[in-house]
Amino acid sequence: MANNTRVSFVKAFEVLDSRGYPTIEMSLGLADGTVASVAVPAGASTGKYEAIESRDNDTARYEGKGVLHAIANVTDIIAPALTGLMADDQPAIDAVLLELDGTENKQRLGANAIVGTSLACARAAAQSHGVELYEYLGGHEAHVLPVPMFNVLNGGKHAPDGSDIQEFKLVPLGASTFREALRFGAETYHALHDVLHDAGAPTTVGDEGGFAPSFASNAAYLDVLMQAIERAGYRPGEQIAIGLDPAATTFFHHNEYVLHRDAHRLSTDEMIDYWADWLKHYPIISLEDPLAEEEWDGFQRLTSRLGKKVQIIGDDIFVTNKKFLQRGIDTGCCTGILIKPNQIGTVTETLETAKIAQQAGYACLVSHRSGETLDTSIADLAVALNCGQIKSGAPARGERVAKYNRLLHIEATLGDRAVFAGRAAFPRAGAA
Ligand code: PGA
Ligand code: ZN
Repeated sequence: MANNTRVSFVKAFEVLDSRGYPTIEMSLGLADGTVASVAVPAGASTGKYEAIESRDNDTARYEGKGVLHAIANVTDIIAPALTGLMADDQPAIDAVLLELDGTENKQRLGANAIVGTSLACARAAAQSHGVELYEYLGGHEAHVLPVPMFNVLNGGKHAPDGSDIQEFKLVPLGASTFREALRFGAETYHALHDVLHDAGAPTTVGDEGGFAPSFASNAAYLDVLMQAIERAGYRPGEQIAIGLDPAATTFFHHNEYVLHRDAHRLSTDEMIDYWADWLKHYPIISLEDPLAEEEWDGFQRLTSRLGKKVQIIGDDIFVTNKKFLQRGIDTGCCTGILIKPNQIGTVTETLETAKIAQQAGYACLVSHRSGETLDTSIADLAVALNCGQIKSGAPARGERVAKYNRLLHIEATLGDRAVFAGRAAFPRAGAA
């Protein structure tokens, strides 16, 4: 059958995400009979300037988090406009979506409705052309398997009884393949379970599948992480390093960083000192959102002080938006960016932001959201960008491992062409 990528239908359904809140699942059909399905994730520690997802605010359903309006937007507005367009002209599809929405932050149709449609077009087009999604998005050059960052201790908004720090991640950069990196991570996750259990700490988990014990200081979480790496038989720093996402916006109140676990209230410069001290004592190679999203001057000072020792990733401060990223590049804020398609809303804009980052020598860390589904598009996106880094939570829980398992398949499909990014993904890793 000759491929004909004209859109024939777009349908959306309300389903649940991994936290038990509603989200959108979409299926998009093409004239040649191709049908592609995608599902949309949702964040909890969202950046202020993220594209806005549409929620019903009808408190009689799902605490107001229903997505029936967003689905109606797909059915009544998006589907009629897209029907007949070529799904494999992604820039044209996304331009239509932006025009239909017409707002700066996608609030009319909803970023959830828009990103679902945009991704569904990409997926359908790839299927119709008989190529894998990573190849469709990245071309024949796409061949680098990312270093996974496993969030094995959850805190902040993802586990309110845990650390103030949202994410403590294992970064198995010393592995030689993705398959081996996944094993390093899973074994250490299990060793961490045993370290916690032996210490009498609970082994219940947070939103991203990492453990969420209550300790008397934030540094205590790093200590159990180090013990777990050693207990699993790995050399900290050399084989498995540590990545952090404090998500500092979530504990920044009235111009102070309020660390409950440490009973500390810190100024911006004291917060920078705090991270500098941790870098001296632990093999930390990646530090995301170490300051609050509005603290551009603080980010500049932090980057000039620590940016050669550790990768500084901007999430809430950049929100995958090229405008904020460019400001960061121009002013020396951060050395990398988190890439979340639903934070900006379309595939085209996501690829554009990543390209600008890479051209400026900024690292790209492709990321899931804390509310996830079994959709694996971000795994393909990481390979498409050859960016060498991905975070998808713990190496446990179906919605988290779906992405890692997809990467196993991609690695196998690429065969000899597959290259595992390893330590080369972290040119600023001075910790080992
Ligand atoms: P979110 O968290 O998906 O809840 O926004 C992820 C992150 O902060 O990186
Ligand atoms: Zn983050």
